[in-house]
Amino acid sequence: MDSFGRKIDYLRISITDRCNERCLYCMPEGYTGWEQTRDHLTADEIIRVVRVAAGLGFRKFRLTGGEPLVRGDILEIIRAMKTISGVEMIGLSTNGTRLEKFAKPLQDAGVRAVNVSLDALDATIYKRVTGGDVNQVVAGIRAAVSAGFERVKLNCVLMRGVNEQEIWPLVLFAAEHGVPLRLIELMPLTRTDVLTEKNFYPVGDAMKLLQQRDELIPRPDARIGHGPAQYFLLKQTGALVGFIGALTNLHFCENCNKMRLTADGKIRPCLGDHGEIDLRSALRNNADDAALQKIFLSALQSKPLEHHFRDNYQPTRPMTAIGG
Ligand code: 5AD
Ligand code: SF4
Repeated sequence: MDSFGRKIDYLRISITDRCNERCLYCMPEGYTGWEQTRDHLTADEIIRVVRVAAGLGFRKFRLTGGEPLVRGDILEIIRAMKTISGVEMIGLSTNGTRLEKFAKPLQDAGVRAVNVSLDALDATIYKRVTGGDVNQVVAGIRAAVSAGFERVKLNCVLMRGVNEQEIWPLVLFAAEHGVPLRLIELMPLTRTDVLTEKNFYPVGDAMKLLQQRDELIPRPDARIGHGPAQYFLLKQTGALVGFIGALTNLHFCENCNKMRLTADGKIRPCLGDHGEIDLRSALRNNADDAALQKIFLSALQSKPLEHHFRDNYQPTRPMTAIGG
């Protein structure tokens, strides 16, 4: 429990800040703040952290990046995590570019839930947002759907004038593949020139756009997975669409259940708060498990009531350095 009575049992672990894409909202072209690989936690260190966290009551874990599939030892990390008592769920967040090859091995290793970023289906728009090739991602999503994961979800970050015309095609794609689509408000975690008033597209606008095409039936019980989305079923198309109003939903943080671990071994209690607690030094200075637990608990105590994104928040680290 944190100091506001929220049960925090979900740890998102960034295993690398590297990525093979360059999303506008995360790590734009020209980013130079790369961490040294030696500063990244090793597989053994990550596994130890998971064991300590599970000992404290964390039950759900998600590997993120950067792009987690650029890290060569990811399958070993997952296999080891799966054997740890208390680990009930292992998820992965990926850009999908390498998923075609990795879907089955990931499923075999113990991943149960996969979130794939998909901001556009149109190849030109997709490339403009991410720098990558949408065909690889679509192939990756198909491989994930047939690999037999418990859950596959699609994530789309909304940017006005960039991908708003892609929302409806994405809804149809999600319905066709039987996977939920989550529409996410742009959070201030990138270069400030991307974070203009003009680029921000509130989920409320997306909802109105969908209401012009279909009837939205609220699914308040559909807390699919453990995320913060509010879900609606689209009556005609059958699509399940989640809205992540990180900025406009004033109750957004009330049900927060997570903390993050950055690739360089800092516990980050909240995405929208600069506070970080160093765990890596303790890991590398032979701290025992009790000492590591203490650091976790102090991080938990410092978890703020809510993010500061609405208070002219200036990111000091982009999303890629924190863990998507
Ligand atoms: N705002 C909102 N969502 C973001 N993501 C990455 N950066 C941002 C941002 N600045 C999303 C990615 C990914 C998820 C883990 O976080 O699209 O799907
Ligand atoms: Fe890479 Fe994901 Fe960041 Fe895009 S959002 S640059 S895919 S880590």
